[in-house]
Amino acid sequence: MRIVVGVGGGIAAYKACSLIRKFTETGHHVRVIPTESALQFVGKATFEALSGNRVDTGVFADVPEVPHVRIGQEADLVVIAPATADLMARAAMGRADDLLTATLLTARCPVLFAPAMHTEMWEHPATVANVRTLRAHGSIVMEPAAGRLTGADTGPGRLPEPEEIFALASLLLERADAIPRDLEGRRIVVSAGGTREPLDPVRFLGNRSSGKQGYAMARVAAQRGAHVILVAGNTIGLEPPAGVEVVHVTTAEQMGIAVDKHATGADAVIMAAAVADFRPANVAAAKIKKGAGEPDSIELTKNRDILAGLVAARRDGRLPGLAIVGFAAETGDEHGDVLTHARAKLKRKGCDLLVVNAVGEGKAFEVDNNDGWLLGADGTEQALDHGSKALLASRVLDALGPLLR
Ligand code: CTP
Repeated sequence: MRIVVGVGGGIAAYKACSLIRKFTETGHHVRVIPTESALQFVGKATFEALSGNRVDTGVFADVPEVPHVRIGQEADLVVIAPATADLMARAAMGRADDLLTATLLTARCPVLFAPAMHTEMWEHPATVANVRTLRAHGSIVMEPAAGRLTGADTGPGRLPEPEEIFALASLLLERADAIPRDLEGRRIVVSAGGTREPLDPVRFLGNRSSGKQGYAMARVAAQRGAHVILVAGNTIGLEPPAGVEVVHVTTAEQMGIAVDKHATGADAVIMAAAVADFRPANVAAAKIKKGAGEPDSIELTKNRDILAGLVAARRDGRLPGLAIVGFAAETGDEHGDVLTHARAKLKRKGCDLLVVNAVGEGKAFEVDNNDGWLLGADGTEQALDHGSKALLASRVLDALGPLLR
């Protein structure tokens, strides 16, 4: 695919270099268009070497090729990283005073802005209005990350990590309309990852959940405008998605407490976590040793079902109107195939939507791609095409939207 990477003049311009590499390494054709001030931070030669293509900032280079029209027209995706306050202001106004803004006016493909600026600039009414305008024009303006900015100050305005920008860009290449702004004003709780049930101070019972699907759910929901609280169990060291409030937990018990707490006042809970059904009945205070007194079995006790608890609370009127989404990793067996088990689980659990993944043979766990089915309590069944976990997340959010009060 043909990707245009526009680089604004901010210190985060150096992070555009890793983004460009990710695009070229995954086989995309990349054309970098910096603003003149971006070149104060990263040299033209760097962008040319990384992209393998010529780099210009103005409209008067290579005139016979009419690049200010052609590059935008031919692009499959435009990604602006970092998008500075000034660059977004110019883009919102429809200025065309350099090659990048001219390209933005001629592009008809998805356009993704990854903002980076100081918190004051991000929160200024002028920037807020420009972001609103850009979104109204159909561009996707990412939520910036919060954290340390240049200097000692912290707050929202940090450039989302290149991995995050890459994930959303890849999603837009899979599905151009995957990130509408349809969840603005919504509060969504997402659980992700596996729980760990301690056995002694050094050992635990765990599972193979990587957390990737839940993190993708949280990431896409946040970029669609929701306030997302991500209750994260054990993951394979995933970076928290930009604009998401993360609550870290370890055990199923802790996850239950955190989910229940945040479910109050939420519009939806998405239980993507792999919650342990059992935990060791006794947790040894000291490390269990071989030899005299060694146990020959581990006694287990049942954990409560968090999802079922939410359904019960809704039924009792304690969580009125909460939309509830469950996940199920299933295998077929002598009692039925994956879908038969999944339909029974949806009924048993009483949630509104059940996302079903077939597991085994290198599927679902730890991998980047996923597919499956989406079953609705109203009897609807939709196949989820094979694609990234973010793509699957976008389909689930499409189905969730109409269920929100
Ligand atoms: N779940 C939960 N609390 C638990 C176990 C599971 O909230 N103690 C949630 C999971 O997050 C998931 C859904 O329930 O959204 C289905 O999980 P799964 O383990 O497939 O369900 P179980 O009822 O444990 O089914 P099975 O008998 O197949 O293990």
